[in-house]
Amino acid sequence: MHLEQSTLQLLKDSLKQLDAGFSALPPAAEIASSPPDPRLAAVMTEVATKLQDNYPYFHPLYAGQMLKPPHPIARAAYALATWINPNNHALDGGRASSALEKEAVAQIAAMFGWQQHLGHLCGGGTMANLEALWVAGQINPGKKIVASDQSHYTHKRISAVLQLPFAEVPTDNRGRMDPSALEKMLAAGDVGCVVATEGTTGTGSVDPLPEILRLRERYGFRLHVDAAYGGYFTLASNLAAETRASFDLISRADSIVIDPHKHGLQPYGCGCVLFRAPEVGAIYKHDSPYTYFTSSDLHLGEISLECSRPGAAAVALWATQRLLPLLRGGEFAAMLEASRDAAVQFAERLENDKRWLLPFAPELDIVVWAPRAKTIAEISAASQRIFDAAAKQNLHLALIRLPVKLFSTQHNLQYSATDTVLCLRSVLIKPEHRDWLDRIYAILSRVADSAVSSVS
Ligand SMILES: Cc1ncc(COP(=O)(O)O)c(C=O)c1O
Repeated sequence: MHLEQSTLQLLKDSLKQLDAGFSALPPAAEIASSPPDPRLAAVMTEVATKLQDNYPYFHPLYAGQMLKPPHPIARAAYALATWINPNNHALDGGRASSALEKEAVAQIAAMFGWQQHLGHLCGGGTMANLEALWVAGQINPGKKIVASDQSHYTHKRISAVLQLPFAEVPTDNRGRMDPSALEKMLAAGDVGCVVATEGTTGTGSVDPLPEILRLRERYGFRLHVDAAYGGYFTLASNLAAETRASFDLISRADSIVIDPHKHGLQPYGCGCVLFRAPEVGAIYKHDSPYTYFTSSDLHLGEISLECSRPGAAAVALWATQRLLPLLRGGEFAAMLEASRDAAVQFAERLENDKRWLLPFAPELDIVVWAPRAKTIAEISAASQRIFDAAAKQNLHLALIRLPVKLFSTQHNLQYSATDTVLCLRSVLIKPEHRDWLDRIYAILSRVADSAVSSVS
């Protein structure tokens, strides 16, 4: 059996406890004791069979995209909450789960050093960034949003949705925003918001906050930190000094996005947006003729763009953080440190193996690399073959198309500024990846030798 099942009993026991809270109600026999409908079993068998058509995201040999299994406590707490199915839009629909959301979000804000904040959960990183850029646009109307050319594509799309001008800032040869290129843009005087990505989606690169903040002193702009992927690494004790310097300055941002459904052990969709100044709540101000009646306390819908939201997501997050507090040196931090160790060790092996090209050492837990070959076209073709061959051996990697310039310091490839090359990519997001490195590397070596004759 590969899939964890211990939470099923836990769920049954906690369901009894939840049920006891409603004992004052008159029995509604049609709910509680209706005989099981035999069609349910048939449909569920069909569902389970259909779900087999997935990569094994939960297994350490799945080392491809940023997919992390939720913690069993998150799974159980989420499922338990669905028996109530609270809606965190308003206290009318989700009283307990709104309180848990406020607590859990305050703990995330405190992780970044914010004792005061305004924030809430939402569907994911895209929605969270949308809210942050919407607020930026309300504060600096018509001004440009800029983000690095390695930032998530969502920033460009969101800017288009918000009808705000957008520009990409070039990156250095490690995929980080180039501060001198940013300064040239700022000199034009039309930038309202700089998006710094602390952990890019492709390579886990960390934009340099010390330099970006120096530029903010000179030019003045709103700083939004997209830490959807990387944010939790602020708890890790094994970051390189340069990376740590940026993480230590995240608290100076005006807004932060972090995705509990990435490294926070949550089921999808659980994103989180935080604002340093609670006063931005005024921008969200609106009335609702339907809700906001049962209490004069803050309804989360009053400070979010989405209306209905799953209270279950807040319940799961709260339970996870109750079990695994967001503390440096704690059990949760150790999981991130294991992922980071795995990436460092994996990169070292690749660097010492003449079959591979490693453009740069990983800053977080994402490694990109490519098979050594004579031309860009041969490298790309070999990456694709290795990716396919590894999958046949149950090792699931990812692919990424990167600018060839990232490899320029170590390889004599002929290229132009716009050339890209297909590379292999592995997000070592599960702590178990560290213990599985030998097996992962053994499969990779085997497929590189046998499936790719052009790798020398
Ligand atoms: C840095 C970054 N920002 C934003 C997003 C978008 O987040 P979501 O997929 O949760 O909408 C991602 C997703 O990978 C990301 O890595």
